[in-house]
Amino acid sequence: WRAHAPLIAEINRLKREKNAVILAHNYMTPEIFHGVGDFVGDSLALAREAAKCDAAVIVQAGVHFMAETSKVLAPEKRVLIPDLRAGCSLASSITGADVRLIKQRHPGVPVVTYVNTTADVKAETDICCTSANAVQVVEWAAREWGVDKVILIPDEFLARNVARQTAVKIIAWAGRCEVHERFTAQDIADMRFAWPEAEILAHPECPAEILEAADFAGSTAAMNDYVALRKPKQVVLITECSMASNVQAESPGTQFIGPCNLCPHMKRISLKNIYDALVHDQYEVTVDPGVQVRAKLAVQRMIDLPP
Ligand code: 13P
Ligand code: SF4
Repeated sequence: WRAHAPLIAEINRLKREKNAVILAHNYMTPEIFHGVGDFVGDSLALAREAAKCDAAVIVQAGVHFMAETSKVLAPEKRVLIPDLRAGCSLASSITGADVRLIKQRHPGVPVVTYVNTTADVKAETDICCTSANAVQVVEWAAREWGVDKVILIPDEFLARNVARQTAVKIIAWAGRCEVHERFTAQDIADMRFAWPEAEILAHPECPAEILEAADFAGSTAAMNDYVALRKPKQVVLITECSMASNVQAESPGTQFIGPCNLCPHMKRISLKNIYDALVHDQYEVTVDPGVQVRAKLAVQRMIDLPP
């Protein structure tokens, strides 16, 4: 931490000078999350913040689809991502053209799209969802359209997880998060054996066998709240590694135990490239205006749903 202090101070000074805010996802490393993040949280919280903050510049400390979502919600702001290569296996699993084909195959069925998608895909969508509100959004869409099935894309594991919790039939796609798909039921069995007291929390992007074996499934924000409220003695967070480091700082009484997987895309963001982003005003994320208007409808519909 001491080694990071000068860069953190410089970034915080630049933010004031440039009227910029940093939106930091829960998977950012602690020096970013705690050191320079103005707003921190899960995808839903960051999307809400992008829409309502009054800064001129947003630096997205997260991956490209999150920066696009910020631009979609706040087209008048300059949105920067410190490394353009920070992608996402879910976002790259599907295109707008794919969604048009799915809609042709299932006429009249509403399309619910996970926020981990490009703006092009969101533009083809009726309403977006995050892992925190997917069940609520699917049930809302089925009611609004007066149908018993909903297209929920692109994460097949999230879709399966939602299908377990609702009577609405789910039409899914075969996208996967390369971080969460790597966890196995054996990981959970090993944890239960070694740490019988530990509470196991898993992200809904994990395979079904993990979610069935875990004590709780929820978005990164929901996992955070679980630990803050229930203060377990020992906890396993089946998700990206930085999550535990960030929650740990606020839960000194809880022991955090592995395993975790790193997201190579999230890990492309560093204090150094955040600093460069502010100094050189790079790398700007833009969205075609026609796409932006249609994508905004889908994201805004989600944000406007009652909590
Ligand atoms: P949430 O923060 O919405 O739980 O999403 C996790 C994720 O994988 C983001 O890339
Ligand atoms: Fe995408 Fe998974 Fe990385 Fe999130 S953790 S950005 S879903 S690859």
